Amino acid sequence: MILPIIAYGSNVLKVKASPVDTEDPNLDKLITDMWETMYNANGVGLAAPQIGESLRLFVIDASPFAQDEDLAAEEVKFLKDFKWVFINPKMISETGEEWNYTEGCLSIPNIREDVSRKKEINIYFLDEQFKEQTLTLNGLAARVVQHEYDHIEGILFTDRLSPLKRRLLKGKLSNISKGNVNSDYKMRFLAKKTRK
Ligand code: NI
Repeated sequence: MILPIIAYGSNVLKVKASPVDTEDPNLDKLITDMWETMYNANGVGLAAPQIGESLRLFVIDASPFAQDEDLAAEEVKFLKDFKWVFINPKMISETGEEWNYTEGCLSIPNIREDVSRKKEINIYFLDEQFKEQTLTLNGLAARVVQHEYDHIEGILFTDRLSPLKRRLLKGKLSNISKGNVNSDYKMRFLAKKTRK
């Protein structure tokens, strides 16, 4: 089932999410719905808070990046098969040089900005079969995981921009939270504040 994506401004995107109960009988359905919702919106990643569930869970399929002609053959090969469900992930380390890449987010339509992040990460998580995984990632794979991991920590990529940049985007972000934005997929917006 395709679920509406929660837009910038909602509190669920700003809070630290809770651990997933792996015994939860609804978990399978939730993961299936997240894949469907992500693919429908042409995303490469989706975190549970973005569909209104404050849980430490995200899905990633980085295969669309494999079309990027600027990437080395080795990275293309890796990204093509980079598809995982991350349950209760724990970022073990982020190392290496900071590098910029233009990020976007399904919760923040039509805004794309350069975000600086460390190059390499080490992450622990449970996969779809609740099997323990530890991955060392770099480049774009690391980047997508860092972006989604931020979501379960209540951080959006716009929080990582300079104060000046954020100030410049203030109007656009405020419009998104009010629903004054176009997206190709269904979204849910923060209810308009009632006047005092
Ligand atoms: Ni995002």
